[in-house]
Amino acid sequence: MCSIIGIVGDSPVVHRLLDALGRLEYRGYDSAGISVTNPAINLGDTGNFLTWRSVGRVKELSKKIDLSCKSTVGIGHTRWATHGKPTERNAHPHTDGFLSVVHNGIIENFSELKTELIQSGIVFQSDTDTEVLVHLLSKYIKKARNLYEANSAAEATKSPDDIRRTILNDAIQNVLKKICGSFAFAALCSDFPETILAARSTSCPLAVGKGINEFIVCSDAFGMAGLSSELHYLDDYTYAIVSRRNLSVFGFGGEKASTRFYANPFKQESSKPEEQTHYMLKEIHEQPLVIQRLLDKVASEREIYDISSEVILDAINGLTLTACGTAFYACMIGRYFLQTVAGIRTDIELASEFQSAQISARDDNRPVLAVSQSGETADTIKALAYAKERGQKIFSIVNVPQSSLARMSHKVFYTHAGPEVGVATTKAFTAQVFVLLSMAIEFSKKNYVNFPSEALPSRDDFRKVVGYMTKTLSLDSQSIDISNSLFRHAKNILYIGRGLNYYMCLEGALKMKEISYIHAEGVAAGELKHGPIALIEDGTPVVVLAPFDDLFAKTMSNMQEVAARGAKVVLITDEIGMKHVDQSIVHSAVMLPHTHKLLTPLICAIPMQLFAYYTALARGCDIDKPRNLAKSVTVE
Ligand code: G6P
Repeated sequence: MCSIIGIVGDSPVVHRLLDALGRLEYRGYDSAGISVTNPAINLGDTGNFLTWRSVGRVKELSKKIDLSCKSTVGIGHTRWATHGKPTERNAHPHTDGFLSVVHNGIIENFSELKTELIQSGIVFQSDTDTEVLVHLLSKYIKKARNLYEANSAAEATKSPDDIRRTILNDAIQNVLKKICGSFAFAALCSDFPETILAARSTSCPLAVGKGINEFIVCSDAFGMAGLSSELHYLDDYTYAIVSRRNLSVFGFGGEKASTRFYANPFKQESSKPEEQTHYMLKEIHEQPLVIQRLLDKVASEREIYDISSEVILDAINGLTLTACGTAFYACMIGRYFLQTVAGIRTDIELASEFQSAQISARDDNRPVLAVSQSGETADTIKALAYAKERGQKIFSIVNVPQSSLARMSHKVFYTHAGPEVGVATTKAFTAQVFVLLSMAIEFSKKNYVNFPSEALPSRDDFRKVVGYMTKTLSLDSQSIDISNSLFRHAKNILYIGRGLNYYMCLEGALKMKEISYIHAEGVAAGELKHGPIALIEDGTPVVVLAPFDDLFAKTMSNMQEVAARGAKVVLITDEIGMKHVDQSIVHSAVMLPHTHKLLTPLICAIPMQLFAYYTALARGCDIDKPRNLAKSVTVE
């Protein structure tokens, strides 16, 4: 969703704010803006920020900005619109001259607050919920300042720092009492031009990083790559008063809160892909490396997926998996692994539906395992928080170290996929699948299930799969041809498969929708006849995902059914499957290396991702930043 950055220091900030916004753009990119305190003007109530805002990407914003500006304090924002269209007037920062604010999340009671503020004579400039924050903070800071000035004789002994803290503490606590919702914000105030005021309630992450003679406030660690090597994640319902050399953190009621600094895992910016290519393609190609890294970790740090601790062993009696988007499809695959390999009763629940679905399961005290690349998805955080409140143990499989989900979980399993920037997730997904399989195998050892150990992938199977993934990547010329000749002009694409392949079809169709904007649907091949087959017309592309396994023959029958109705069949199978196929009904085929059934998702993901990528490329879509989407969704 939206991202926030703020720097308060000794050196000029404009370039650095822009760089950070460039890194943070994956969280929202329909408009961007920055405000800096203006070093050339004496600050007062009348307007003293330099603010630039622009619709579109950060590169549009950078064209407007005075890059020679020497200001050393500023805030910035990239937006994913919730309240108000993505126009310049709705872009952040929002300012009334006295105060400038960037905000992520939603002020849920903004409508009542706005009515009250309008009745008190305030004229709103935007359609956003954020603007109520500007007016409320302005009002309460001025009120606290006036109160202070009225009592100044009694308070004469206070230092300027104490005065600043007294006024800001008083004002922000009053504002935080009035607003509700899941939010994070950062504000500059002209009365205190060398201070950033920052706060978060829940779900929207915010961290404060230490730089050289400066502090940085930011939505995530990646945004601070190269700016800060150590950072403190603000806990839920805390706020911070941040100056060049001082960071004070408080609970919403004003009680002092402690700080704990972690190393920033993103010291260096992830290398940008070559000109003309995309992060998504780079990340698709990194998958063999990621799986190799995980295999090495499993070999060298045996405890990496250790499930022997008491907390996680509870899951032997049953487990609920929860996630959103692609990570949810990883959960479907995870359920298959955990149930078949380890004999663990496993439910899955969309995180956004978790609470409604679990309300009826009052006595359910099984542990919950959340799966997430970012560890910041609001729906997933809410689901885990709900489970935790009910006394359930909570675990997570997360990619971003020290993310909110990681911090709130009783036990975290990292996917070690490295920074993922393309909005459509790729390498994080295959890493999630690997981790879920490794966990299921560990559980099966502990649960003494009857799953024959010879039916598990051997070390050799695991070792070979990395090579198979690399080999599959080298088949991209076929994906380019099929995408250009068939998918590019399609209105609808169906993906059909059975068992694990069905889950992969859901993921393949989601990838296609996300980045090419073509309607695509993953269908359990056996369900075709119950409805979706009606969608097939002459020429409708149908991707049939069928590596050779126990379900292959049935899927081949379904392939016949769609071909008989005019579908153009794109078959993804393996060397063995290819020998058993009626080639006369296949429009195009991609032949994968044959591997152990439980490892097929790692390989099948690749052609699915490449189809989506090359189709989107052929259609001229914005692949790394598809319309209306954001990588990290921090609103419910
Ligand atoms: C967004 C992204 C998806 C992702 C989902 C869950 O919708 O566009 O690609 O699968 O969020 O994200 P998470 O970070 O929790 O895995």
